[in-house]
Amino acid sequence: MKEKIKVMTVFGTRPEAIKMAPVILELAKSDKIDPVIAVTAQHREMLDQVLQLFNIKPDYDLNIMAAGQTLFDITTKAMQGLDKILTKENPDMVLVHGDTTTTFAGALAAYYHETAVGHVEAGLRTNNKYSPFPEEMNRKLTGALADLHFAPTQVSHENLRKENVPEKNIFVTGNTVIDALHRIVGDEYKFSNEMLHGIDYANRRIILVTTHRRENLGEPMRHVYKAMKEIVAEYPDVEVVFPVHKNPKVREVVNEELGGLERVHLIDPLDYEPFANLMHRSYLIMTDSGGIQEEAPSLGKPVLVLRDTTERPEAVDAGTVKLIGTEKKRVYNEVKYLLDDKAEYMRMASTCNPYGDGKAAKRIVEAILYYYGFTDVLPPVFSPSVKK
Ligand code: UD1
Ligand code: UDP
Repeated sequence: MKEKIKVMTVFGTRPEAIKMAPVILELAKSDKIDPVIAVTAQHREMLDQVLQLFNIKPDYDLNIMAAGQTLFDITTKAMQGLDKILTKENPDMVLVHGDTTTTFAGALAAYYHETAVGHVEAGLRTNNKYSPFPEEMNRKLTGALADLHFAPTQVSHENLRKENVPEKNIFVTGNTVIDALHRIVGDEYKFSNEMLHGIDYANRRIILVTTHRRENLGEPMRHVYKAMKEIVAEYPDVEVVFPVHKNPKVREVVNEELGGLERVHLIDPLDYEPFANLMHRSYLIMTDSGGIQEEAPSLGKPVLVLRDTTERPEAVDAGTVKLIGTEKKRVYNEVKYLLDDKAEYMRMASTCNPYGDGKAAKRIVEAILYYYGFTDVLPPVFSPSVKK
């Protein structure tokens, strides 16, 4: 048996970085693991924000991001860059996260090098190939290549089991996003951003909005923004804060529909710490994000999901998350309902924590050590707390 194993983490976008950060910090604690960090930088500024926050210094940075990048650009540049890194480092295992194109390229590159693949946040499925696009196939193909599957919940475990993934290779760990979240959210937090600091949180109802999904670009997003415009005009106590994704295709439509409006704050993507604290102070959240669907329920915030499908049914079942799509009238009606009906609001706003207990990264590292024979002890299975 080897004295140490080399584990290479590969990631490239903001959410992968946020969710991989706790794993990286945990890997660094083990004297049996020699960690290597490779980023594709499929995102640039939005990735760097997270690297800085967690003080992560990549060993390799492929710096692939380009304006208007296509799926082909990302896949080929990531694969070629990773080939060189894998040849040089020859790790025992490559760890990838989730469902981005970097995730799939990382898993495929590792497979071509006959290197074991560990998949963090494994087993999420909508079973609709084009929704979300291309994430559903990215995670499915990554799952097909993976040796170890770190499923965040029992639902994702069951999805993998149905695809005949051997039970012994699946570990139910909770989602690593919850590991970081509670450490950085607090009532005493002070925003350094002047606008956020200046908001009268006691007397305003903040609606926090984010949008970025490829299948929502263009008209679907425009519908959502038009609905928001009507809501803001109708409710003088509502204030919208919208940290706009760096994608120019998102920015253009946001500016056209919501630019210059009173009580609508269009700002740059926030660092994770202010963003999480803004979720905590918000009245409700509207988003097409995956990660935010996992975070908001544990902060007791209702989420209206601007999508027709979700791979995260747990919080929908618990009642804190609702899928509303992007059709203008529906979006308007659903927001209005939550602004007008206190009882419905309170029902959705009760805290629920189906996605994690803060120990996911620890379980993942214990599972890796178990797989390589450094311990006989299996990590305990994550089980969620019940709705409060
Ligand atoms: C990507 C992932 C998506 C994930 C999302 C998280 C794919 C195909 N998509 O989508 O799964 O949910 O990240 O946010 O893997 N840009 C910048 N600076 C940045 C980041 C992006 O300027 O820091 C701009 C660039 O012009 C880039 C564009 O945004 O070309 C789109 O980025 P890309 O990674 O292709 O797609 P996302 O929509 O961010
Ligand atoms: N987030 C952030 N700043 C922002 C918006 C989002 O730090 O301005 C965080 C959010 O808390 C979550 C993650 O980014 O952890 C979600 O990323 P995104 O919505 O881009 O991707 P997805 O989760 O949909 O893949």
